[in-house]
Amino acid sequence: MSDVAEWLAELRASGLHRRLRLIEGAQGPRVQLDGGDVLMLCSNDYLGLAGHPRVREAAAEAALGWGAGAGASRLISGNMAPHRQLEERLAAFKGYEAALLFGSGYLANIGAISALAGRDTVVFSDELNHASIVDGCRLARAETFVYRHGDVEHLAWGLREAGGRAALIVSDGVFSMDGDVAPLADLVRLAREHRCRLMLDEAHATGALGPGGRGSVAAAGLSGEVDLVVGTLGKALGSYGAYVCAGAELREYLLNTARPFIFSTALPPPVLAAALAALELLEAEPQRVRRLNANAAALRQALAAEGLAVGGGESQIVPLEVGDAERTMQLCERLLERGVFAQGIRPPTVPQGSSRLRFSVMATHDEAELHGAAKLAGEAARETGVLSLPVAA
Ligand SMILES: Cc1ncc(COP(=O)(O)O)c(C=O)c1O
Repeated sequence: MSDVAEWLAELRASGLHRRLRLIEGAQGPRVQLDGGDVLMLCSNDYLGLAGHPRVREAAAEAALGWGAGAGASRLISGNMAPHRQLEERLAAFKGYEAALLFGSGYLANIGAISALAGRDTVVFSDELNHASIVDGCRLARAETFVYRHGDVEHLAWGLREAGGRAALIVSDGVFSMDGDVAPLADLVRLAREHRCRLMLDEAHATGALGPGGRGSVAAAGLSGEVDLVVGTLGKALGSYGAYVCAGAELREYLLNTARPFIFSTALPPPVLAAALAALELLEAEPQRVRRLNANAAALRQALAAEGLAVGGGESQIVPLEVGDAERTMQLCERLLERGVFAQGIRPPTVPQGSSRLRFSVMATHDEAELHGAAKLAGEAARETGVLSLPVAA
């Protein structure tokens, strides 16, 4: 057996093997998955904008007007008017002086962290931060202090121990697999006390939290208090790519030093136009965010009524922790057979022993669908032994 075949066999034996499922047609609250019609309950297209007619049209018009690709990195010859336009709109939306686009959220995080944290810097990173933040810390080759999830005391202790060395605190705003919000006010306070930079990743907060969907920082009334805010265009904004919001000087520094920005082709015009159209829809129709929040509450309540204990505060990310990886996938498959798609999430995406279904709600679901899905989740959980008690009458 080759080493690769052995690795694959190990993954299968430990319940961690992954395979691709296939969707035909646009993203939406219902999709055709592997040939069957299912309720989509694990998309990050939270506002249902990826398939919105205006967003599709904008992408198509941009393809006709500007072409399919940017042809080079922005610092060579790929910088086009739609890049500038989208950056200006994003910065204004987030209340920042400037924004800089990146190819994806993954690239934005590794680019910003490795640009800001040299070998003499200590990075303070929440233990449940997204993999792209973890990889950014690795790439920076900076000393990294991983503080316990949301544990402000642990972070404060680490900062004191660092004794005034250059430091960067970095955290998800809304945690991607847990749905809870970082202790933002404390992070801001500690960053100020210790004179270090604070970077927040609002991948799952933009379009979902705060006034008009401006994110977790705005929701906490801390706009302008966070040095860098990262956001993606691939989730609530229905397109692809990402951005970092910061002051103009910091933007200029990233533009000169962030390697994924320098050494990668600029985002293509249709993608930019789609994101801009989605942002315009978000600004014009803030009721989408309210609808998302109401749907999140409805699903949480309905799952609780089935006896399913879900975590993650109040956000649109609703984790149902199962623990064991194989059992999680059994639950996922049983639910899928009933027409509801919520992907099982296993290590290394989440820590060992905390595999889960990660339900995520969209503004375009209707409440009846969510109630129906929760009932089916209860049935599947009882069938797989995840839930042993019969539902209360
Ligand atoms: C918190 C967080 N940051 C960054 C990313 C990466 O963003 P992108 O998908 O745009 O690469 C994700 C998810 O994919 C995420 O959940």
